Amino acid sequence: MSVTVEAARAILRGNDRGGYTVPTAGLYPYQWNWDAAFVAMGWITFDEPRAWRELERLLEGQWADGMVPHIIFHGPRSEYFPGPDVWKTRGPVPASGISQPPVLATSLRHCWEKACERALAEDRAAALYPRVLAWHRWWASARDPEGSGLVGCLHPWESGMDNSPAWDPAFARVSPNPTTPIRRSDTGHVGAEMRPSDDFYRRVIALIDLYASLDWEPRALWARTPFKVADLAINAILHRANRDLLALGERFGTAAERAELSARLETTAGAIDRLWSEAAGLYLPRDLILGEPIEAAISAGFLPLWAGVAKAARMRRMAATLERWAAKLRYLVPSTSPEDPRFEPKRYWRGPVWCMMNMMIAEGFRAGGASDLAQRIKADTAALILRAGFHEYFDPLTGAGLGGGQFSWTASVALSWRLIEGAAGA
Ligand code: DGY
Repeated sequence: MSVTVEAARAILRGNDRGGYTVPTAGLYPYQWNWDAAFVAMGWITFDEPRAWRELERLLEGQWADGMVPHIIFHGPRSEYFPGPDVWKTRGPVPASGISQPPVLATSLRHCWEKACERALAEDRAAALYPRVLAWHRWWASARDPEGSGLVGCLHPWESGMDNSPAWDPAFARVSPNPTTPIRRSDTGHVGAEMRPSDDFYRRVIALIDLYASLDWEPRALWARTPFKVADLAINAILHRANRDLLALGERFGTAAERAELSARLETTAGAIDRLWSEAAGLYLPRDLILGEPIEAAISAGFLPLWAGVAKAARMRRMAATLERWAAKLRYLVPSTSPEDPRFEPKRYWRGPVWCMMNMMIAEGFRAGGASDLAQRIKADTAALILRAGFHEYFDPLTGAGLGGGQFSWTASVALSWRLIEGAAGA
């Protein structure tokens, strides 16, 4: 297998289905929200019009209230489960009914700053900016109706970290008895030992059944859900995205919009700060129904560095936490602490390394001044891809490639983070 810039570009071209890029053929045959944001950062390195198209096609799925769904079911029906018949949503195109970590504004700013075709970039970014602002307003109103500064995540798939052990206790409150029959297609593509359990699927589908019965109305979901957590990926990524949107607002927005974003940033910085755990040595998510921290050290707990809200002393504490994890592993950053008894090195979000998480965490440490640790994370990411190829995720103990192959966001991270430039084919 050859791991080159050309091979990474070929993955994006091969996964292109006409303006949108599937994460990988077979397993995920549609457009996913945060995947699209990372994928645009890959396209912008070699095909600028195509990068803009990726973001535009994602927003084709935007609802009238601003929500951008986590899956946009463009294209032909497939065996993917759960498909549009299960979600029963009524947006402009068939889509899921929940959202996903809002990387889009960060991607938009990145593409706008990196673009060489300036007139094109100005036109496309000007048109996208108000749509992204509408999405951020949706997060504030639909997912933080009480104005706490933390948005709630109402479904494990909304966090992007699906079967993370952090969600186990809150998810135990969800019924394991969906009305929709389970017809898993994922395990036909990837070994069951790398995927979530059947019990997880019964509960994720039961939650969809409940929300569909409430017609996806945000206030009803907020009031009735048994699963409501403050997830650090969504909250830290949203904080960073609001900063990036504010920067874009200097060019494309109004003074009133900039004031609105600045006020929100002040509230969210304080709220994220309160998720710090001195005992755990990183930030912890919160169960919003019990009003208690969730005792689970997961990779999202480092993302306040990416948000730019972690103070220097906390960054040093987080660096020490990660160094301790590193002593138990070959490759950083595992999605779950290897000190947690629920750590499983091969199972999806319960242990494996994800390249786009590494990019955000390393960038956070670099910006905070921990450049050696940032470099170690970057070198590990490059080593994993060079050793195993462009996989969905990787075993932190052995470096084995796991999940889907020829994976779009892994190829994009390799391109935009310049991981494989000049590297010899493996
Ligand atoms: C899946 O199908 O596993 C996806 O992660 C849902 O978003």
